[in-house]
Amino acid sequence: MLEIKDIHSYYGSSYILQGVSLKIKRSEVVSLVGRNGAGKTTTLKSIMGIVRPAQGSVKFKGAEICGLKPYQIARLGLGYVPEDRRIYPNLTLKENLEVAQIKLGSSKTKWNFEKVYQFFPQLKALGEGRLGSNMSGGEQQMLTIARTLMGNPEFILLDEPSEGLAPLVVSALADAVNEIKVEGVSILLSEQNMKFATKTTTKSYVIDGGKISFEGTIEDLMKNEELVKEHITL
Ligand SMILES: Nc1ncnc2c1ncn2[C@@H]1O[C@H](COP(=O)(O)OP(=O)(O)OP(=O)(O)O)[C@@H](O)[C@H]1O
Ligand SMILES: [Mg+2]
Repeated sequence: MLEIKDIHSYYGSSYILQGVSLKIKRSEVVSLVGRNGAGKTTTLKSIMGIVRPAQGSVKFKGAEICGLKPYQIARLGLGYVPEDRRIYPNLTLKENLEVAQIKLGSSKTKWNFEKVYQFFPQLKALGEGRLGSNMSGGEQQMLTIARTLMGNPEFILLDEPSEGLAPLVVSALADAVNEIKVEGVSILLSEQNMKFATKTTTKSYVIDGGKISFEGTIEDLMKNEELVKEHITL
């Protein structure tokens, strides 16, 4: 469903992604793991068109999307959950969800308020009038994922959702990701937290210094002591 071939991305003259290739099938949840500064966020931004790769190809559902603008890519069904969450602090919970709705016609509209509250009962419990600024880190993370779902994506790029959250909240988030997977939404998850990655994904890529250094099952990755020691936070 998403195929990235040999992308090279720069920030100014800094050469960051040095030939990244990834493949994610429909309904698959795949993790991209690596340490701070490895290039996880840059990979997701390069797919979403926020960073424009200097070279390489990004195909979504068979069509080249490299070079398109982020809003055009979003309209094709690719959703992006940024690492820094970016919820609107002065808007209410409901308004934060409302602004993200992409109307696609009833046949393609899978997600609505009721359904996202079903997936995130914790949000419903807060009340729709709760201001974005009055939410905990975990609640904000749930809201960013819920907000992305309101755009009815077929595929989600999820950037380090567990970062800075307490273990119990991380566990609730992993459950929500697994439920979203059951709905048939594919996910590329960037993570440093292996507990979260193993709970949600079966296939994994390791990125290091802007290059993919491992591709395989999470089980094989966990068996490789050297890789685990080098790249992963347990
Ligand atoms: N806007 C930017 N301008 C210049 N360099 C950047 C910029 N954003 C990131 N970098 C650099 O690019 C490299 C990859 O960063 P990236 O954010 O992709 O890493 P990451 O794997 O997501 O790390 P983290 O786990 O800290 O989120 C790092 O060396 C970083 O310093
Ligand atoms: Mg990052």
